[in-house]
Amino acid sequence: MTQEPRTAQFSQDRFGMFIHFGPYSVAGRHEWVRNHEELDVEQYQKYVDHFDADLFDARAIAATAKNAGCRYAVLTTKHHDGYCLWDSALTDYTSQAYFGRDLVREYVDALREAGLHVGLYYSLLDWHHPDYTIDPQHPLRNRPDVAELNAAKDWGTYREYLHGQVRELLTNYGQIDYLFFDFTNSSEIGGLKGKTAKDWDAESLLAMCRELQPGMVINDRTGIPADVTTPEQYQPVSPVIRDGKAVTWEACQTINGSWGYHRDNLDHKPADLLVRMLVDSVAKGGNLILNVGPNGRGEIAPHDAQTFAQIGEWMRLHSASVYGCGPAGFAEPNGAIYTRSRGGLGNRIYVHVTTWPFHHLHLPGLAGKISFARLLNDGSEVQISAIQEDESHDSLSPIAPPPGTATLTLPLQRPDVLLPVVELTLEEGN
Ligand code: GLC
Repeated sequence: MTQEPRTAQFSQDRFGMFIHFGPYSVAGRHEWVRNHEELDVEQYQKYVDHFDADLFDARAIAATAKNAGCRYAVLTTKHHDGYCLWDSALTDYTSQAYFGRDLVREYVDALREAGLHVGLYYSLLDWHHPDYTIDPQHPLRNRPDVAELNAAKDWGTYREYLHGQVRELLTNYGQIDYLFFDFTNSSEIGGLKGKTAKDWDAESLLAMCRELQPGMVINDRTGIPADVTTPEQYQPVSPVIRDGKAVTWEACQTINGSWGYHRDNLDHKPADLLVRMLVDSVAKGGNLILNVGPNGRGEIAPHDAQTFAQIGEWMRLHSASVYGCGPAGFAEPNGAIYTRSRGGLGNRIYVHVTTWPFHHLHLPGLAGKISFARLLNDGSEVQISAIQEDESHDSLSPIAPPPGTATLTLPLQRPDVLLPVVELTLEEGN
């Protein structure tokens, strides 16, 4: 698969960490708390006042990402609440003004030091800016005086602010590898109009991004096509194809359904499920970005840190099946997910065995095509056989796998890892 140079690195990386952090982390009950509880700016202010990020250590977060095997990260520079984690000259609603720290600077420096690619998230929505009109997603949507409130707003002023802030982020922090805009929803609900790409002036916003950071990957949530599409909290059922071409995509997933720290939500996805989701994404030609919401003081909660560490232990032994890999192009048997390396490591298929079978795993269409097979966790050989048609005899014929099937003989004991992987080296020409 050939790719645009801009997205080639992004697709090599395959695994990233999303970081949602802001005053909502102090509320500790979802990053949409202002919307869910219909809080106005004053009611939200207690979270802003108590947000001091005293334990936010960008290096520690970068280390957690790196040890998990992530190759990039994305930080919420501003979420829908409008609070900015950088020293913006365009507002005082910033970490710099409140407690004297530019968290975006700390983050960008720490990521570069750790050798990770740098991503920034920027919310197009802004529930704090006085000229941001009240739409169906706005915390004040149910106020009886919405019409009067909206009539007093000057949308052009907000649009200028939004473009100006993106310009700051793309000018003052060196090379940015990925910009994640969020989001466009044009539906009209209860007489309130949603926003469209036109409202953001997405065309000129993107043109500015291209001019300031020509190599940067941009998602398509401004409402116009860009480099990457970002399905949220679900796994696509197949590779994403548009107009006959494979689309670059990234599944955005959470550990517990919330992006911002949610203290009482213990609906944690186990690490083995998250590894399967990562592999499922790669097998369909996509990336996975897994979120963490640092707590109200800026630290990754122990349970989440442990989940990332478990994934890291799996990645330590199995990352060859992830980095730079994509769809394999062979039909998978039940209980297995294939990925295939596309460059560096050559012609290899990685068989992720999701359901450990009794001794044998039958791989359709691969007979005679594999020169060597081994388990990735310990490098030990897995023996391959192919049952020839003329070899079938009474005791086998009713149940023998169809011709062309390669059969792996697996140990009875499932390797004690989150997801066992058999690496197949293919014969030349396959
Ligand atoms: C959304 C949500 C949001 C989250 C994001 C991540 O659209 O509004 O809170 O930041 O997706 O993909």
